[in-house]
Amino acid sequence: GSPLVIAPSLLAADFGRLADEVAAVERSGADWLHLDVMDGHFVPNISFGALVLRALRKRSNLPFDVHLMIAPADPYLAEFAEAGADHITVHAEAGPHLHRSLQTIRGLGKRAGVALNPATPADAVAHVLDLVDIINVMTVNPGFGGQRFLDSQLPKIAELRRMATASGREIRIEVDGGIDKATAPAAIEAGADVLIAGSSIFGKPDYAVAIAALKPGS
Ligand code: DX5
Ligand code: ZN
Repeated sequence: GSPLVIAPSLLAADFGRLADEVAAVERSGADWLHLDVMDGHFVPNISFGALVLRALRKRSNLPFDVHLMIAPADPYLAEFAEAGADHITVHAEAGPHLHRSLQTIRGLGKRAGVALNPATPADAVAHVLDLVDIINVMTVNPGFGGQRFLDSQLPKIAELRRMATASGREIRIEVDGGIDKATAPAAIEAGADVLIAGSSIFGKPDYAVAIAALKPGS
């Protein structure tokens, strides 16, 4: 498989020092930066939008992995692409036209992702795999950092890994929510190859140590 990617989630960073926080994870071994965009409608919390993304884009060379927890998403895809997203992930539950959303993201020249809430089956992506570069398996209910990892999602990760392999395409499978050094091994074992982690990185005094602790054999 592809080498494991660690993507710190900015949601758990100190928002008063965002640029410094991004620089700190960048020099501490982060592979991607995960940015959680929340609208207070699709999820019960509001985070930040494309303006913040644009400001950070000038200060970081990390790939920006943008997780849109907004509905509708389609009217904003171009804005996030222009602001500096490298990957744009929409929720399967966020609208009736997932196929169209993914086509739009690819048309903007970005890698396209689909996120699945805990109650959404793997089948939700079965007929769009030809358009998908990234699948985000939510292992908490989206909206907040610092929640407990849902073990119930492990069989879904394994099922999605089988589907991705059968597709013959290179598809990254992300796990998002409650990832720390205790939960990461099971997620990797099930087939995840991108670990998104907020509290277990930004909540620790030494980000390099926290990132290294998520990798197998550490
Ligand atoms: C939750 C977000 C996650 C969140 C993860 O809605 O999608 O990316 O930041 O935070 P932790 O790692 O603290 O569970
Ligand atoms: Zn996320």
